[in-house]
Amino acid sequence: MNTPAKPAILVARRVFPETLARLREHFDVESNDTDGVWSQDELVQRLQGKVGALTTGSERIGPELLAACPVLKVVANIAVGYNNFDVPALTAQGVLATNTPDVLTETTADFGFALVLATARRVAESEHYLRAGLWKQWALDMFAGAEVHATTLGILGMGRIGQGVARRGAHGFGMKVIYHNRSRLDAATEAACGATYVSKAELLAQADHLVLVVPYSAASHHAIGAAELAQMKPTATLVNIARGGIVDDAALAQALKNRQIAAAGLDVFEGEPSVHPELLTVPNVVLTPHIASATLKTRRAMAELAADNVIAFLTQGRALTPINPEVLGAAAA
Ligand code: GLV
Repeated sequence: MNTPAKPAILVARRVFPETLARLREHFDVESNDTDGVWSQDELVQRLQGKVGALTTGSERIGPELLAACPVLKVVANIAVGYNNFDVPALTAQGVLATNTPDVLTETTADFGFALVLATARRVAESEHYLRAGLWKQWALDMFAGAEVHATTLGILGMGRIGQGVARRGAHGFGMKVIYHNRSRLDAATEAACGATYVSKAELLAQADHLVLVVPYSAASHHAIGAAELAQMKPTATLVNIARGGIVDDAALAQALKNRQIAAAGLDVFEGEPSVHPELLTVPNVVLTPHIASATLKTRRAMAELAADNVIAFLTQGRALTPINPEVLGAAAA
């Protein structure tokens, strides 16, 4: 007797071998072992006949792709952010979308703080100086940066990761924490984070260190541009661990050049992996290649959660972390 064929799925970027092995127990898996980012045409071609896919921020899932991939049932993003998904289009086509919240919260908040510290204390700039052989003697004001402890930490976007950054600031560094968010947190959560709600204008004017943790959307596009940078203190630092496009990178490069703000720490960029050329020339910016969630433990947990979502949906019609749970209801109906 022939064993029935397993459903076919695509893993669009390289994942850990144990995740692939687990997926192979359930599915016929095509994986991207070379890890090159496929063109949209190649992605569509490889998705033919696939009922599920594991994707990352480098794969765009929109209406044209969905129309060309009619048997696709589930797309699991290995990321908490999903601005690479057109969620209304996915929902309209009855395709479940999932992401990887929670498993990366603390790791990403750690990195947010790493960038606050590195930016304020000029870690990258001084290391480049040392490596270039320029360090000839100690000096009292050498790489004197900005204080972090007991200053004011501003957070734009107070979801899970924003709250993690707030807790670190309030409880670890004795900072006054202020935040702005679409909606105000309840009093108990504010108290746990040691954070006070302020208007965006107050946030910009008062923060000594401003951290961006807001999801990318049309509404948050260029939330920090020339006008907002002009409202910040000249001694302030800005950290973006959210998404490229939330900051107007050209305006930021100008502001850093003109010392309109003191420094910035950026893990995400408009049009990444390209980086605005001016940002590469200014010394007062720390640049990292979108690694805020990158510990092995957390990246493994993200890949496993994406796999769990695909397995749960295709074998039991449920999902752990759905973005459009209404599709589950429709599937069950
Ligand atoms: C990374 O940027 C993520 O959204 O998980």
